[in-house]
Amino acid sequence: MCGIIGFIGRTDAAPILIEGLKRLEYRGYDSSGIATISSAGKIEIRKEIGKIVELEKIIKHNPINGKIGIAHTRWATHGGATVTNAHPHIGQTGKITIVHNGIIENYATLKKHLEKEGREFTTETDSEVIVHLIERYYFDTDNQDDGSPLTRLEKAVSDTVKMLEGTFGIAVLCDEVPDTIIGARKGSPLVIGIGKDSMFIASDINAFVTYTKQVIYLDDNEIVTINRDTYQTKNFERAPVSKDIEEISWDVDEIGRAGYDHFMLKEICEQPDSVRNAFIGRLLYEQATAKLGGLKLSNKDILNIDRILITACGTALHAGMVGKYIIEQLAGIPVEVDFASEFRYRNPIIRPNTLVLAISQSGETADTLAALREAKQKGATVMGICNVVGSTIARECDGGVYVHAGPEIGVASTKAFTSQVTVMILLAIYFGRVRGLSRDIANKLMKEIEKLPGAIHAILDSKEKIKKVAVKYAGTKHAFFMGRNDQYPVALEGALKLKEISYIDANGYPAAEMKHGPIALIDEEHLTVALAPDSPLLEKMIANIQEIRARNGKIVTVTDTKNQMIEKLSDDVIKIPKVHPALKPILMALPMQLFAYYVAVAMECDVDQPRNLAKSVTVE
Ligand code: M6R
Repeated sequence: MCGIIGFIGRTDAAPILIEGLKRLEYRGYDSSGIATISSAGKIEIRKEIGKIVELEKIIKHNPINGKIGIAHTRWATHGGATVTNAHPHIGQTGKITIVHNGIIENYATLKKHLEKEGREFTTETDSEVIVHLIERYYFDTDNQDDGSPLTRLEKAVSDTVKMLEGTFGIAVLCDEVPDTIIGARKGSPLVIGIGKDSMFIASDINAFVTYTKQVIYLDDNEIVTINRDTYQTKNFERAPVSKDIEEISWDVDEIGRAGYDHFMLKEICEQPDSVRNAFIGRLLYEQATAKLGGLKLSNKDILNIDRILITACGTALHAGMVGKYIIEQLAGIPVEVDFASEFRYRNPIIRPNTLVLAISQSGETADTLAALREAKQKGATVMGICNVVGSTIARECDGGVYVHAGPEIGVASTKAFTSQVTVMILLAIYFGRVRGLSRDIANKLMKEIEKLPGAIHAILDSKEKIKKVAVKYAGTKHAFFMGRNDQYPVALEGALKLKEISYIDANGYPAAEMKHGPIALIDEEHLTVALAPDSPLLEKMIANIQEIRARNGKIVTVTDTKNQMIEKLSDDVIKIPKVHPALKPILMALPMQLFAYYVAVAMECDVDQPRNLAKSVTVE
């Protein structure tokens, strides 16, 4: 999705803004642009479609100076990916420019009014109404006596944001106030970075983390005015709001590629550590339970839960689906899992004892955020399972658990999934213990959890073997992933990984569903990846594999057991170590990720920034 970075300091803004844009590339975009107030006091803008390097070429050819600027990566929603539609947008006086993340839902009505007043629009975007509105209020004669240009600009921004319906994070420059950036937020994240003799504003900490770790998170309905060494936060009514400065704990190294070809591979390989970080310090053998203090639930609260509703999108949803099996099994609480985008619009039944869990790596996904707000409004207690500390979802929930996977940059989510599932298992132990799970079962499972990093290492050590299998299937047109029970969500996740980075048409199914329709597609060209770990359902899985083989389909089986039938029926077998049954979804996810990764690399796809996708989906 779109990204924003703004800078004000003592050095040239352009190189810092370009570096910031590059750090936002992972979010997905199709054009970019930059605006500064030049040393001559005028707004200068450069924009280009394609990658940031294309924008750099434009700037090299036609340099842009100034010690203050805003920049943007655009992921097209309203209007095509063109230079004109790229941000920053400038008003018709050429004195005010803005960048915007989000969607202005009432833009058509606003545009009509503004056009009637004689304003000319040059882009097809929803965002352009923002700059016209600010300009209109700034130059409004009623606003002229209202103090300095700064006060007028602040008032113009506040009057504008009150007109907007939808979501926005904006940054505004005005050449009559050349030492100031104004930001405003509603539903789309904005964070301020306090540097040495400099200030930053961005949609995401990654954009400026090399310069400062001192941050202030803007909340919805807040405006910030930043100068080189001060900032002021206010609400939309322009009443001061006091904010805490927080220190972020990420290392700069953590967001580099560290010698790997892609962020995705780096993040896959980080899983021994990221999974360990999800459980470390949380296994209490004395009490035979998991410590999840951030949930802020008493034993009485846990005993009273009569239903859990998990809501999320994409990979996080699949982690929630795995969670359903383990929570129902260990804690005996009925669990429903729902797409966040559907949850919001289906009038979900929330009773006083319903616990809602919102799972999100970024903590900024618009649909998940909307679902949690809907649940809160209906009276539910809502807990967040998030990776990004201080993200909107994390802050809006009643409590929650951080998965501590570290920054995930690759658009295809990998380490976040295994960390989310690990937390689901801890949650099941914690709730289970309060509701009658034996000490013995809990302690045994916790000991097994500690073995996970070693088992993950073993899979990573065999990645060359997985690569050999994967490259054989590069160019496959269609693939199924099938699994049973808690392997079904892993099959969905395997299919999602493959389709999003290699563009192969891939779908996940519960294995038994194949004969209710999908099997019609099997022929000698069709690939099926069978998830067949040792379990009471293994024989049934083998029967499903046989059904595919009988129709000449190609089969790759992933298993942790030696089984002659599997060897005989499969074209390729990927072996993984044996672990406790409850932990198998975590281990089985690894070959899915590596398989998708190596297929995509063999097909020369852009693994970290697949087409049409964004890392953080901050629009509905
Ligand atoms: O940040 P979130 O976990 O809320 O993101 C949810 C999905 O957008 C995300 O998992 C998406 O499906 C990934 N591209 C999957 O790899």
